[in-house]
Amino acid sequence: MKLIDGKKTALDIKESIRLEVDELLRQNKRPPHLVAVLVGNDPASRTYVNSKEKASKSIGFTSNILTFDQDISEKRLLEVVDKLNQDDDVDGYIVQLPLPKHIDEEKIIMAIDPHKDVDGFHPLNLGKMLAGLPGFLSATPLGILELIKRYHIETEGKNVLVIGRSLIVGRPLSVLLSQKRAGGNATVTLAHSRTKNIKELSLQADIIITAIGKAYFLTADMVKDGVVIIDAGINSIDAPERKRGYKLVGDVDFENVAPKASYITPVPGGVGPMTIAMLLQNTLQAYKSNTI
Ligand code: GUN
Repeated sequence: MKLIDGKKTALDIKESIRLEVDELLRQNKRPPHLVAVLVGNDPASRTYVNSKEKASKSIGFTSNILTFDQDISEKRLLEVVDKLNQDDDVDGYIVQLPLPKHIDEEKIIMAIDPHKDVDGFHPLNLGKMLAGLPGFLSATPLGILELIKRYHIETEGKNVLVIGRSLIVGRPLSVLLSQKRAGGNATVTLAHSRTKNIKELSLQADIIITAIGKAYFLTADMVKDGVVIIDAGINSIDAPERKRGYKLVGDVDFENVAPKASYITPVPGGVGPMTIAMLLQNTLQAYKSNTI
């Protein structure tokens, strides 16, 4: 079994972006600028956004978080989005999801300038992805593809099972892996909450990617020997033995699945750090198309 080290890979990617930023500064250019919009006080969202800001600053980006109360109106949030669209000093921004129930997430995402949509959530970017055209790809699928590439995992002709059909991870990933290109050409099955007999499918799979948000969902009896496992789940479970009272685990029963796998990502330290690295990469891409 070989561990796929997302943390180390993300560090390598961040280091190469940092070197590019250094070079920009040497040329007296401004650094790339990423903004995160955070609404409400969901602790997980706060943690994610803080990590994104910290990573941005560590590689020399300008980065800030715009924080708003839970009860901000949809109209006011649309004004914030519009202002970010107009601001030439902002290369890219994200609106952290989920948003409070009284705000229509789709309406907010639709209002983001697709050229600043470094999350790749705008329908224009999703459509470009479907058509195989260049645009912003959302960070988690992109991070998973990057791990597959850097670990030389063959996807061509392989049976890939993606578990979870979210717009952020599962659905785009199923498209990208099936496309006719390096790192694609897989036979993809997209399983979800209404899929019958997931075990039948998972036992056939050469590569399994989980993104369903259910702790320990994929167990050892569900996978064949030599399987590649990529776990994009992040679930918080009670852990009274820990000082903070909880721990983060993936969708995979890592301890029992790992001995059967040829490659496997841990949680934490697998897909999570890659998501942030890819967000930074997208922001650099936005910067380049804004300033060149
Ligand atoms: N919520 C969970 N993951 C993400 C993400 O990648 N981007 C945004 N904007 N919100 C999220």
